[in-house]
Amino acid sequence: MTTPILSARDVRKSYGRGANKFDALKGVSLDIREGESIAIIGKSGSGKSTLMHVLALLDQPTSGTVELAGHDTRSLTGTALNRTRNKTFGFVFQQFFLTANASVLENVMLPLKIAGVGRSERKRRALAALEQLELADKAKNKAVNLSGGQKQRSVIARALVNTPRVIFADEPTGNLDTATGAVVEDILFDLNREHGITLIIVTHDEELAARCDRRVHIRDGLIVDVVEAATATPATATAEERAA
Ligand SMILES: Nc1ncnc2c1ncn2[C@@H]1O[C@H](COP(=O)(O)OP(=O)(O)O)[C@@H](O)[C@H]1O
Ligand SMILES: [Mg+2]
Repeated sequence: MTTPILSARDVRKSYGRGANKFDALKGVSLDIREGESIAIIGKSGSGKSTLMHVLALLDQPTSGTVELAGHDTRSLTGTALNRTRNKTFGFVFQQFFLTANASVLENVMLPLKIAGVGRSERKRRALAALEQLELADKAKNKAVNLSGGQKQRSVIARALVNTPRVIFADEPTGNLDTATGAVVEDILFDLNREHGITLIIVTHDEELAARCDRRVHIRDGLIVDVVEAATATPATATAEERAA
């Protein structure tokens, strides 16, 4: 089997300490195949966002490991960690995280700036990403003046401008009306299918989850079920997943 793009091994995450200690993840193991789409689903407070943050190297587990393409990420710190995250991952969050008073173009160029790409190349690539999302005409608009769907498409443009291997989406359609949400979903699945970008989606939405190759159900900080879509490639669940 090819090396998973991401691999969580017995990941535990606790918040607080002493009497206030809360175990948000209680031993999660999961292999994510490069190019797959995977939904992480579960009730509010079950640990979905915590798992996503740990997988995305935005937060460290209290114990356990996360491997990126077979490499233990514990040795990644500081600049190297930021660079790896910026180069490998794109983020699409419900709370758009656009800089409101900056232009759409500037928002989309940001990951390239962090990556040290020169100004004219930044602009060229950001405009190409905006073009892809049919937002080129909004490049000079301030982010604050966009509609919800346009904001989310800008976020996707920003997520893909660095040609990431993985896109993390936390409730990507949560703030959008049904029609706009469907457009955003289609864009994400197109990126997955046409560019082989691994898609990791946290969602409450069963229909969105059903479009993914695999659905990982999480409850009280544990994976309780992994469901493979009928059309997906054969299951390669880990022993822990099968036992769960
Ligand atoms: N920074 C934090 N400090 C303390 N508790 C937290 C923190 N972040 C999350 N939690 C708790 O951990 C649990 C899981 O949170 P989260 O991963 O955000 O759940 P979900 O995304 O499934 O709604 C929740 O009970 C939440 O209150
Ligand atoms: Mg959450």
